[in-house]
Amino acid sequence: MYIKNIMLENFRNYDDQNIELINGINLFVGDNAQGKTNIIESVYLSAFGKSYRAIKDIEVINFEKEYCRITLNYNKLDINKKIEVFIDNFNKKIIKQDEVKINKISEHVGEMLIVIFSPDSLDIVKGSPAKRRNFIDMICSQISKSYYINLQEYMKCLKLKNSMFKNGNIDREYITVLHEKMSEYIFNIVNFRKKIVSKLLEKAKVIQNELTNNLETINLIYISDFINLEKNEIKKILDQYLEIEMMRKMSLKGIQRDDIEIYINEMDVAKFGSQGQNRTALLTLKLANFELLKEENNDEPILLLDDIMSELDSNRIRFLLNYIKKYQSIITTTDDSFANHAENIIIYQVKNGEISLK
Ligand SMILES: Nc1ncnc2c1ncn2[C@@H]1O[C@H](COP(=O)(O)OP(=O)(O)OP(=O)(O)O)[C@@H](O)[C@H]1O
Ligand SMILES: [Mg+2]
Repeated sequence: MYIKNIMLENFRNYDDQNIELINGINLFVGDNAQGKTNIIESVYLSAFGKSYRAIKDIEVINFEKEYCRITLNYNKLDINKKIEVFIDNFNKKIIKQDEVKINKISEHVGEMLIVIFSPDSLDIVKGSPAKRRNFIDMICSQISKSYYINLQEYMKCLKLKNSMFKNGNIDREYITVLHEKMSEYIFNIVNFRKKIVSKLLEKAKVIQNELTNNLETINLIYISDFINLEKNEIKKILDQYLEIEMMRKMSLKGIQRDDIEIYINEMDVAKFGSQGQNRTALLTLKLANFELLKEENNDEPILLLDDIMSELDSNRIRFLLNYIKKYQSIITTTDDSFANHAENIIIYQVKNGEISLK
C-alpha cells in the first residue's frame, strides 16, 4: 500500500497543508521544531486511531483552533481509499474509512500497515520488557484483528482485577469468573505471540546475516509462564496465585509479564550489547517486522523513519536505502546529505509548519 497525499487541517503546527507523496522515499528535511515528526505522527494516528506521543487526543489540535482533521488518500491493493480522522476540543473523535464511520478501533487497526522506527525504538532492545511486548503486539495486531480484540479484552479484565486489589473490595467469585475469561485470552495471545516471534526470527536471521556479513547471528526467545499450556492449566496458575496477589495487592501472573529476549551470538543484547550492536539488532528487527507484515498481509507496509539516519553509520544507511527504495517510506531528518545515494526519492523542506519542494 502507499499514501497518495496527506491533508492536515489544524494538526499540531500545521494550518492547512496538503502533502503529495510518491510511492518511494519521501524525505522531509528541516531544522528542529519545524513539524517533521508531526507528519509521521499524523500517519501513525490515522493507522492506529491514537498518537504514540500525545497523552490526550486533544493535544494534537493546533493550540489556536477548536478541531483538527487528518485526511489520507491511499492506494491499497490497487484500490483508492481514504481515511479521515477528526478530533475536537470536546474530546470528540471520529474516524472514517471511505466516509463510513468506524465504531470500534478494532475494526480499523490493520487497515493501514505501518512500521515505525524512531530514536525511541532503541528501547525495544535496551528498555523494559513492556517495550518489547508492545513491539510484538503492534505486529500481531496488524496481522490479526482477533489478536487485538483478545488483548483489549484481557487488559480490561486485568484492570478490573487490579482495581479490586487496590480498593480492597475483593469479590473472589467474580475473580474466578475473570480468571476463566483471562485464561482463554492468555491461551490465544500466547499462542499467537509464539508463532509471530518464531516467524519474525526467521526473517531477522537472514537480515542480520546480510547486515553483518555473517558475523552476527540473532536469536529471539519468547519468555512466558504460559507457553504450551492448555486453558485449564492456565486458569489453575491464575487461581493458585490469587492468595499471594491479594497479599501483595497486585496481579503477579499474566501475559503482562511476558518478554522477548534478544541475543546476538548467544549474548543478551540488552545486558551486554555495544551501542552499534543495539542499533544493528534494532534495524534488523524493524526490517524483519516489515517483511513479516508484508508476507502475512500480502501487501507492503509503509515505513515511517523519524530522525534515525543520524543514528546509523554509512554502511547501514546504504543498506537501508537500498532495502526501502521499492516501498513507500516517510523519512525525517535535519541533515539530508545521505540522500545523494538514494533512488526514487522526493525531498521536501519543512519550515515552521509549511512544506515546500526542496
Ligand atoms: N498542538 C500544537 N499546536 C501548535 N503547535 C504545536 C502543537 N504541538 C506541537 N506544536 C509545535 O510543533 C513543533 C514540533 O514539531 P515536531 O515535533 O514535528 O518537530 P520536528 O521538526 O520533528 O523537530 P525535531 O527535529 O526537533 O525533532 C514545535 O514547534 C511545537 O511547538
Ligand atoms: Mg522530530
